[in-house]
Formats: sequence, structure tokens, C-alpha cells
Amino acid sequence: VTEPDLKGRHVVVSAGGTREPLDPVRFLGNRSSGKQGYALARTAAARGARVTLLAANTALPDPAGVDVVPVGTAVQLREAVLKAAADADAVVMAAAVADFRPAAYAEGKIKKKDGHDPDPIVLVRNPDILAEISADRARPGQVVVGFAAETDDVLANGREKLRRKGCDLLVVNEVGERRTFGSEENEAVVLGTDGSETPVPHGPKEALAETVWDLVVQRLK
Ligand code: PMT
Repeated sequence: VTEPDLKGRHVVVSAGGTREPLDPVRFLGNRSSGKQGYALARTAAARGARVTLLAANTALPDPAGVDVVPVGTAVQLREAVLKAAADADAVVMAAAVADFRPAAYAEGKIKKKDGHDPDPIVLVRNPDILAEISADRARPGQVVVGFAAETDDVLANGREKLRRKGCDLLVVNEVGERRTFGSEENEAVVLGTDGSETPVPHGPKEALAETVWDLVVQRLK
């Protein structure tokens, strides 16, 4: 039996991957399926929370009893996070957010010009949503959780990212073309600003989600 230890709480979860359009046909994106974020949303709802799920380009069924808000780009996700986080007890950023977006959007499909090299794609920086909401909490005591998708020096990069982003907890997971993205399973270490390190062995994404909520509940008390 699941403890309703998030009853009366509002939690916000982001899931999926942002898409940054180049023209009406193409975008820069990433391999996130949204499964880890959806597992977080489902498990929080089962524990009694009111859940807002900000879903970036996912193709998964809406979890029962969860308020799902679809978003496309990092800029749109930022708007949705700021709005939903205003009265949230916890915000968990499981979405894979593009750090950069194309500087220009072509209103018509970009054509190839015979005999010419393609134009380079110029990128500009996207807002860092996690750093922003961590630095400027919408309410006192709000717990902010980030994820770190790393391909190498996983723990060292994770510790550095926890410091840089300013969140309370950082879930460090290893990713690759066939690792974590789209899979039903994950394994991670959850780093806390209190120096804690909680390893979560390889298993269903729900199991990692439950550990995240356990750590959030401890911090909400
Ligand atoms: O969706 P799945 O297929 O189940 O895969 C799950 C996952 C691998 C996508 C997920 O577990 C995960 O690691 N999500 C975070 C991916 C990511 O963007 O990591 P990052 O290390 O680039 O970013 C660190 C943190 O900052 C993340 O919480 C991210 O949401 C946030 N961020 C990043 C950039 C940005 N401009 N704004 C942000 O808020």
C-alpha cells in the first residue's frame, strides 16, 4: 500500500525533450522519451500529490489524475515551469532541455542551393530554467530537483552541476545512444546539497522515482 505522504502537496514535473525549430520542417532535439518524467508524475499522484506534468514532445498516454501541459521549446517550457511552480511544494526537472537554440527561424523550408556549401547553423543560449527557479524560489521551502544526463565522469560532473545549478537534489544518470533514453529502466545516484549520496540500482524508472519522492518528502518536513 502506497503511503499518501504527498497528500495536500502540489508537485511539478517536467518530462521529455525540447525541440528547437530551424524552419517549419526541422528542429534540434534530443533522445528523451519522457518515460522517467512520467514515472515521477505517476508515482507522485499515487502518493497523493496534485501533479502538473509539463510534457515536452512526448508520445506517452496521459497519466491518470495528472494535469498534463504540452510544451515544445525550452522557452515555452520555462514559461510553463514559472507558471506552475508559483504554488508548488516541489519541482522536478526530468526534461532534457536544449542549452542552445538556432539564432534564426526560417519562415519557409530551408532550401539547398546547388553548388553552394550549406550555411552554418548559428546558435544562441537558452535560459537555464533549473538555475533560475533554484536561485529565485517561488515559495520558501520549495524543494527543487534537477537531473544530470552525463556520458563520462558521471559523479564528478554531477557534483559540479549540483553546485552550479543551485538545486537541493540532483539525480545523476548515465546516458548514451542506447542507454537510459527510451528505456524502461534507469540507475542513478541522487546527490544532496547536504553531502548525501543515494545510489539507486538498475531497475524500473518507477523505483528511481519513488526514491526521489522519499528524499523530497524528507526535505518538505
Ligand atoms: O525521457 P527518458 O527517455 O526516460 O530519459 C530520461 C532522461 C535521461 C532524459 C532523464 O533521466 C534526464 O537525465 N533528464 C535531464 C536531461 C538533461 O537535460 O540533463 P542536463 O545535464 O543537460 O541538464 C541538467 C538539468 O538542468 C536538468 O534537470 C535539466 O532539466 C535542466 N536544464 C538544462 C538546460 C536548460 N537550459 N535548462 C534546464 O532547466
